[in-house]
This record gives sequence, C-alpha cells and structure tokens, in this order.
Amino acid sequence: MGDTVLVVGGGGREHALAWSLAQSPQVDEVLLAPGNAGTAVEPGCRNLDVKASDIEGVVAAAREHEVRLVVVGPEDPLVDGLVDACEVAGIPAFGPSAAAAQLEGSKSHCKAFLLEHGIPTGAAETFTDAEAARAHLATLDAVPVIKASGLAAGKGVIVAESKQEAADAIHDILVDGRFGAAGAEVLLEERLFGTEVSVLAFCDGTDFSVMPAAQDHKRLLDGDEGPNTGGMGAFHPSPIADDALLADVGRDVIAPTLAALAAEGRPYKGVLYAGMMLTASGPKVIEFNCRFGDPETQVVLPLLTSDLLDAFEACVTGTLAANQPTWADAAAATVVMASAGYPVSSAAPAAISGLADAATLGTTVFHAGTTAAGDDILATGGRVLAVTAVRPTLSEAAEAAHAGVDAITFEGAQRRTDIARATAEVRA
Ligand code: AMP
Ligand code: GLY
Repeated sequence: MGDTVLVVGGGGREHALAWSLAQSPQVDEVLLAPGNAGTAVEPGCRNLDVKASDIEGVVAAAREHEVRLVVVGPEDPLVDGLVDACEVAGIPAFGPSAAAAQLEGSKSHCKAFLLEHGIPTGAAETFTDAEAARAHLATLDAVPVIKASGLAAGKGVIVAESKQEAADAIHDILVDGRFGAAGAEVLLEERLFGTEVSVLAFCDGTDFSVMPAAQDHKRLLDGDEGPNTGGMGAFHPSPIADDALLADVGRDVIAPTLAALAAEGRPYKGVLYAGMMLTASGPKVIEFNCRFGDPETQVVLPLLTSDLLDAFEACVTGTLAANQPTWADAAAATVVMASAGYPVSSAAPAAISGLADAATLGTTVFHAGTTAAGDDILATGGRVLAVTAVRPTLSEAAEAAHAGVDAITFEGAQRRTDIARATAEVRA
C-alpha cells in the first residue's frame, strides 16, 4: 500500500511533477490542486477542486487525504507562505518558506541580498518615487532594464532599448500602477549582455544537487524574435551549460546563497533556480526563482532515473548529501504549443485533436491550459501543451518532439519550429 502526495498548481510543470511522482513505487495516488485536463486522465493522478492560491483549502485537502508530502509548483503560493502553513499543520511540504522565497518575491530584496553577499550580479537602484527614478535614469550612461519588484506573472521586466522607453516603463509601473502592488517599487538595473542559462538545484537547507541544465527559449517566435514569454520550449543537453559551468555556478552562486540564508535563520529547502547571464566578465545572476522552471521541468524530469519522492523528502529532511538524484545520460527536447494571442491576449476555447497520435510517436504530452468538455479536450489559453521527447541524441529528441507537435492541431495554435534545432544561435 503506497501513499498519497499532493501537487499544488495546474500548469505543464505540475503535470510533469505529477507524472514523475506517479511512477514512484512508494506512491499510490497523486492529487492535484487544481491540475488540468491532462492530469485528470494521467494514470495514478486525480484533480481536486482546490485552487493553488487557496492556502487554507490546500492545507485542509492535505489533512483530509492524509498526504505524505505536499509539493508546491508555482511561486505565488510559496511567497504567500503555503509551506509555512503546512509546517504549522504538521504536514511535510517541498518548497521554500515564505521568508526564503522572498528571493523571488521581491527583486529589490534579492538584489540587496546578492550585493551584500558578494554574489556576482548587475548593479541596480530601487525607487518608489517616479521623479527620483527618472532623475537617476538621466545620470546613467547606458539604458537600464526596468523591473517591477514584486511578482508580476513573468511580465514585470522591461528590457528597454532607449531612455524614453525606460522612462515610459517607470511611469507605467509607478504612476499608472500597471502591476498593482507588485509595482510599488521599481528597479533600474544594469543591462547584462551574453547568453542566458538557467541552473536549477535541489536544496536541503545546507547541501544542494544541481540538475541537468535545460536551456529555455523565451521568445515567442523562431530565431528568438517577438515578445518574451514564459518559455516556448527547452532542451538538454545545452552546449553552453556544461559540467564546468554548472560547477562554477554551484560554487559561486548556490553555495554562498544557501550559507547566507541558513545564517539568517531561513534555510532554503526546495528548488533554487538561478537565472544566469554569461557575460564577458563571468556568469552573473539575473534573478532567482524559488521553484522549478516551466518548461524546463518537462525536459529534465523525464531524465530522472531515481525516485522524485526520495529527492523531495531528502530536501525536506536535510539528507540530500546521502540521497543524490540520478539522471539518464540522454537528450530531451520539449516544444510548447500556445493559444492564439499568447502572450498578449487570450483566445476562445478550441478543441484539440491528435493527442493520441503524438503519444504513438513516442512523445509525452504535458498539459497546461486545457479543460475537458465531454469527450473533447479544449485549449483554453496561454501555454496549452508541452510535447517532450527523450532520445539518445539531441537531434533525435528535437525531431521527435517536433513530430509530436506536428501531429496535434487546434485553432490558432502557436509553436516555434526551431526549438532545440538551432542551438548554436540560441540566446535569451
Ligand atoms: P526575469 O523575469 O527577471 O526572468 O526577466 C525576464 C528576462 O528579461 C530575462 O530572462 C532576461 O532575458 C531579461 N533580463 C532581465 N534582467 C536583465 C538584465 N539585467 N540584463 C539583460 N537582460 C535582462
Ligand atoms: N521558463 C522560465 C521560468 O520558469 O521562469
């Protein structure tokens, strides 16, 4: 008789987490709060009618179902203290406390932390007053990146090309309140140039274990054109994030961060995601996230050869050093399909066909913005599906993932055709 675990969230990342946990021999059932149309039919998984933002509801569901572990996918409930609430209720939960998750919850806090501890990052100044921010802008030689300090669903960063654009962004955020409370503070940050790489590590408060690197494609269109998105696809292995680079980031970024947080009495347990820029003067932190990436998770977890539940519990109990996750020496590619209008607007629901065909081609289809309607599965906005293929080589994985996407259709679907195919040109 196995146990029950509860995954919080409903995106492609959470489908991948649930899919991996359902393979654990220790797990009978994976519950999701709320999950999506994919997790509703995933073997060993069951959706609950509980929102990820409903902290009391999640704790009550975890109690009712006597879950062995709560796994929190998205950043908002982490920053809002879901893991702390579970701890108070005596329920083990994977993810950082609210105090540790402030590294993602407040970019001004994160910047101050990085600078205080000598962790490499770009210079920045924080403002709450638009006049003062614009006065500072006038003194800068280069155009800075403008950032709302709080959580803004990945939309709070404006990489301005001119001082006018930067001034407009300051006005939008501080005067017009475009991001609400998340924009009460604005950072004017030194723009970094180079290649972006994400380094993710399991952390148990003291020790860490870096995951295989997945390189994300953030722009909407082929050739890295168009607006920034949550991520249109990802792949492993990355030609850039080799073992030497991962070791450097572990030593220079992850280790000092864990040591400082532990010394401050807020040890970091969970996934620490370091968004790095490889600049001419070495790797620098662009931002920290306090969770798995989406779609990086859909690339990386299919490569895990040990039990994901063991990795999570090792982080919670501080025993990671003796329980290192193990990974397949293989390649993986994930291609995202998004609704018409993404990332700017939402589209009318559209019926999806070809899901079974994609599975027949040896791909795994993780759902995100999907809803079941009778026998139909509808695309209901944003990122809809993430199609993953694992193969011996990257080119085989890329071709298989794209073939899986070719088999799936819905009205207005957007996808990139160059994911994992043009790796030499990949940039932010
Ligand atoms: P974030 O939401 O912080 O991940 O930022 C979104 C994207 O904006 C990053 O992935 C980068 O492409 C870009 N960005 C953020 N900060 C900087 C920076 N200081 N210099 C250059 N690009 C940046
Ligand atoms: N793919 C980027 C992120 O999860 O933040």
